Amino acid sequence: MISESKFIRMVDEHTIEVSLPNQMGYERIAMACSASFAKIVGFLPERIEDLKTAVSEACLNAMEHGNLNRLDKRVLVSMNYKDNVFSVSVLDQGEGMHESPQNLEDPDIEKKIENLQTPRGLGIFLIKQLVDQVEFNQISDEGHMVRMVLRLTG
Ligand SMILES: Nc1ncnc2c1ncn2[C@@H]1O[C@H](COP(=O)(O)OP(=O)(O)O)[C@@H](O)[C@H]1O
Ligand SMILES: [Mg+2]
Repeated sequence: MISESKFIRMVDEHTIEVSLPNQMGYERIAMACSASFAKIVGFLPERIEDLKTAVSEACLNAMEHGNLNRLDKRVLVSMNYKDNVFSVSVLDQGEGMHESPQNLEDPDIEKKIENLQTPRGLGIFLIKQLVDQVEFNQISDEGHMVRMVLRLTG
């Protein structure tokens, strides 16, 4: 029998890890887990909504661009809270981004709303807007990782 702990585990007292199948829809599990965790440690509802959107976009990118929609791959989401810093790392089994996300031009939201520009290309822009700090393109032996940080203030 496959143990449940293979998919969700409390790594240490500050860290929860979720291993997702590489299938659109499962990003919702990461959204729900990170939202519950953030609520427990005291984030306000509106910050939690920002977090959920950022986590969702990072997971979808991991599935689509990192793991190239391959069903035999997985996305590992690791959430950590310590000393007022909440971080979420999203790891895929791909090679990372070819274009530096820092060089990506910001999308023209007006044009997108009016359908004059493709609705694609919003994920990275949203992540940058919604979290306090983000590190894209962290490459290791295990794959490619995006790390997002939200600080608990007040
Ligand atoms: N995990 C990833 N691995 C490899 N490339 C990525 C990853 N995430 C994003 N990218 C690259 O960055 C681009 C912009 O991502 P994003 O802003 O989310 O727009 P979209 O997903 O609609 O293309 C993607 O088209 C892709 O080329
Ligand atoms: Mg995207």
